[in-house]
Order: sequence, then structure tokens, then C-alpha cells
Amino acid sequence: MWTVSTIISLLAALIPVAAIVYQFRNPPSVASTDAEKEEEDEKPKTIMQPARTDLAPPKDDPFTLEQLREFDGSSTDKPIYVAIKGTVFDVSHKRETYGPGASYNLFAGKDASKALGMSSLKEEDATPDYSTLPEAEMKVLNDWHDFFSKRYNVVGKSFMRYCRRLTL
Ligand code: HEM
Repeated sequence: MWTVSTIISLLAALIPVAAIVYQFRNPPSVASTDAEKEEEDEKPKTIMQPARTDLAPPKDDPFTLEQLREFDGSSTDKPIYVAIKGTVFDVSHKRETYGPGASYNLFAGKDASKALGMSSLKEEDATPDYSTLPEAEMKVLNDWHDFFSKRYNVVGKSFMRYCRRLTL
């Protein structure tokens, strides 16, 4: 006959068993030395894609901003390009990120350096002129350039169609 106290004793006995099973399935960190622990802390804990080791040698084909616009992802048979500080990156393998309707489509087919530096997703900030960025935002922009350089092939250089007026 199962009495309440038998059931309670049984449950109490099961708790340590469950704890052992849990430990077995989710083993704690094996890092024991300080160096090992430090190395574990340095592992990137990020949702961003990892850096690549198979990038092609960079090309420096020239693109005007007008030409860049063709590569905004609206045509499925053309690659998608994003330019940062004049470096044109081929982001085609991330169509789900940069293609039409995707979160970062505003960066596609243009040089949106200013918006990247400002951490802005506003269309009006997506322009190539980053000369007004303060130092902290310049660092953000440079970090993005670095991020893209390690993940996307460089297919060329973009430049402004009209040069800024020279002041003498
Ligand atoms: C609450 C705010 C934000 C959240 C939760 C967020 C989240 C994310 C996530 C999950 C990814 C990875 C997407 C993927 O690999 O496909 C990503 C990528 C990215 N984010 Fe954000 N983001 C935010 C704000 C911003 C802002 C303000 C900017 C403006 C500069 C930005 C720029 C980017 C860019 C350029 C990538 C693409 C990196 C790549 O090519 O792999 N994000 N973001």
C-alpha cells in the first residue's frame, strides 16, 4: 500500500539521482588552471558570424556610387555589395541579412559608412561622408570595416562621383 510518507521518501531519494544525471548531461567547465580559465573567457560569445579563413585576394575594381546601387540585392542574379569607407565588400552569401526586406538592406548597394559609425539604421544616415563623425563613432566605423574585412571578399573601391570642392 502506497502511503503519503512512502511517496515523499521515494521523491526525496530521487532528488540526488536527478542531480547526478543533470551533472552528467551538463558537465561543468573543465578549465582548471588560470590560463585555461582565461582562454575560455576569451572565446567569442557572440551571435555574429565567425571570421573566415578562405577569403579571396582583394580586388580594387573602381565603382562609382551610381554603379554600386545595382548591387542592392533587388536583382537575384547579381551579387550584393556593401561599401565601407570606400572598400566594396561582396555580402551575397548573407542575402538573408542584406537582401530586400532584410534588417540591414539599407546598407546594400551603397557606402553607408556614416550610419555604421553612428549605429544608425536610418536611411538618411546611410551616406558615404563620415567626416562629421566624432572619435568614438570613428572607432565604431573602423571596427565595422575590420569586421567586414575578416568576413567578406573585397571586390573593389568605391568613390564619389563628384569630388568635394577644393578650398584654396
Ligand atoms: C536592438 C538592436 C540590435 C539587435 C538586437 C541586433 C542584432 C543583430 C543580429 C542578431 C545580427 C546577426 C545577424 C546575422 O548574422 O544574420 C546582427 C548583425 C548586424 N547588425 Fe545588428 N542589431 C541591432 C542593432 C544594430 C544597429 C543599430 C546597427 C547599425 C549599424 C546594426 C548593424 C548590424 C550589421 C551591419 C550586422 C551584420 C553583420 C554581418 O554582416 O554579419 N545592428 N545584428
